[in-house]
Amino acid sequence: MAQINPSILSADFARLAQEAEAVRGADWLHVDVMDNHFVPNLTLGVPIVESLARATDIPLDCHLMIEQPDRWAPQYVEAGAGSVTFHVEAAAAPVRLAREIRAKGARASMALKPATPIEPYEDLLPELDMVLIMTVEPGFGGQAFLDIMLPKIRRTRELIDKHGLSLWLQVDGGVAPSTIERCAEAGADVFVAGSAVYGAGDPAEAVRALRAQAETAAAGAPWACKH
Ligand code: DX5
Ligand code: ZN
Repeated sequence: MAQINPSILSADFARLAQEAEAVRGADWLHVDVMDNHFVPNLTLGVPIVESLARATDIPLDCHLMIEQPDRWAPQYVEAGAGSVTFHVEAAAAPVRLAREIRAKGARASMALKPATPIEPYEDLLPELDMVLIMTVEPGFGGQAFLDIMLPKIRRTRELIDKHGLSLWLQVDGGVAPSTIERCAEAGADVFVAGSAVYGAGDPAEAVRALRAQAETAAAGAPWACKH
């Protein structure tokens, strides 16, 4: 079952409650936290996540593009996030951090920038509920999808299946009607979409259309029969 997570990075930050309402039916709301150190952009932090969690029923998928996630990630669970993603490039102790996020009651997820390979982290997969393969350099919405990430998505799906794990495989960056099928065929099952959803005339309809496209593409993929 494909999940679609609209990214509020492409929404109107002054109207977040209404922007959440505009994507009713979405599986999660993707919240991009940027600190202007790990990435060259600055967005929002714990207080806004806390308010947003109170303002919507859609669970929050917080993507932390920040330095020192070991120090900050647990606060996002306390703020109400249902899933917290840290970047492995920034984490000092990813296993300890994933365990802490889970112990506090959220799903633990690890993100990889485009130049970070998945193979060194094979043994960490059982500690995680989701892996995020970035399909753009993190920092900004509206960038072009990096096709060269498709083999990494495929290899990650193979590792997940090889170990018999049920963790989700998320893609983020440039996911749109023209790219989502290739991601689904490669093995992704959670799709972040910012500009493709909030740039559409009817964002809720864009979510439904993307989900339908992903499910059709995944049904024909070789890995689908294993699920
Ligand atoms: C980029 C963010 C993404 C961004 C995606 O660093 O992590 O979540 O919002 O935006 P689109 O879908 O427009 O590429
Ligand atoms: Zn993101």
